[in-house]
Amino acid sequence: MRKNMSPHSIGKTLYGPDDTSAIAVSLAGHLLSGDTVLLSGPVGAGKSHFARSLIAALLESPEDIPSPTYTLVQTYESSAGEIWHADLYRLTDSAEIGELGLLEAFDQAICLVEWPERLENLTPDRALNLGFFIPESYDRRELTLTWSAPRWSQILPEALDDINARGADRDLP
Ligand SMILES: Nc1ncnc2c1ncn2[C@@H]1O[C@H](COP(=O)(O)OP(=O)(O)OP(=O)(O)O)[C@@H](O)[C@H]1O
Ligand SMILES: [Mg+2]
Repeated sequence: MRKNMSPHSIGKTLYGPDDTSAIAVSLAGHLLSGDTVLLSGPVGAGKSHFARSLIAALLESPEDIPSPTYTLVQTYESSAGEIWHADLYRLTDSAEIGELGLLEAFDQAICLVEWPERLENLTPDRALNLGFFIPESYDRRELTLTWSAPRWSQILPEALDDINARGADRDLP
């Protein structure tokens, strides 16, 4: 790990799909080309819901935001530059990551990656990690934001301020 890349974490409780959308929209307003957001968590955790809300917030005119479940990647032109939405659940071979063009996209586009565990050692170390956890009651999600790159320490306080009226802070264990 590079110097000044010590990890940071914040916990949020999201009390319904609207809270998930609110944090996605709020973050969208701060993203630039070269930013990668990794979306982890089990089936049904809200990864796609988050990605769709974020993409919709940046599209200049509304368009379909299909799931990349089978195509692995969907791309969009947006007011903030190109967006890549990847779902790596069905990735069969890590060689596909390069073939898809994802490694260049990490440098040149805004990338949202579901099932980022599949990236293994190709995971960009400057990415923001969002981990969604489903509590037993299923009516909310516990979100943990983790990062090492200084960039996220700069933009997250402002991005999260926008939504503080909604998702509640949560103490991490
Ligand atoms: N904070 C929340 N509280 C309760 N439900 C939520 C919350 N955020 C999203 N959801 C709901 O979770 C459901 C599943 O979301 P989604 O399809 O985005 O999951 P996913 O993580 O992408 O799953 P998969 O791994 O199958 O792609 C949706 O019905 C969505 O409305
Ligand atoms: Mg999904």
